[in-house]
Amino acid sequence: MLSNTILTSLNDQIAAEFGASNFYLQVAAWFDNNNYEGFAKYFRKQSDEERQHGLKIVDYLLETSSGVQIKDIQAPDNYFVSCLGIFEAVYALEDKVTSLISNIYKISVLEGDYATQIFLQWYVQEQVRSMRDASYNLNKIRQIGDDVGALFEFDEYLGEKE
Ligand SMILES: [Fe+2]
Repeated sequence: MLSNTILTSLNDQIAAEFGASNFYLQVAAWFDNNNYEGFAKYFRKQSDEERQHGLKIVDYLLETSSGVQIKDIQAPDNYFVSCLGIFEAVYALEDKVTSLISNIYKISVLEGDYATQIFLQWYVQEQVRSMRDASYNLNKIRQIGDDVGALFEFDEYLGEKE
């Protein structure tokens, strides 16, 4: 049986993961509209992954016979003006998700909730990967600066990334 604090945090996390999914879909649409097909493809894929992250929590709650609550999801920011601005926003989002996951993990440690700790380990590792990618991509965009050729090359690279 999950405690109320853990249950509320996990239901909030479902909304955070779905919110990230919507944000990445919004980002993908902007890139598509602005002829960055590679970035569009990459972020469409990220959007699908974030939805899976949310669904994984739904399944954990069902497995533990806990109440699933799909909460309000804040509309993503869609005022994008540059590639750099978007990659900065992506980094900020992943940084925020990392602290949310760390916080639930911390609560599960304080409560001695071993099952939730083990469940969350996958998310802790996933955030390591996401932070590495968000940081790499942001640094790359900064290095590229005004070099349009390099930007298109990076667009192609990310589009082909597995
Ligand atoms: Fe996620």
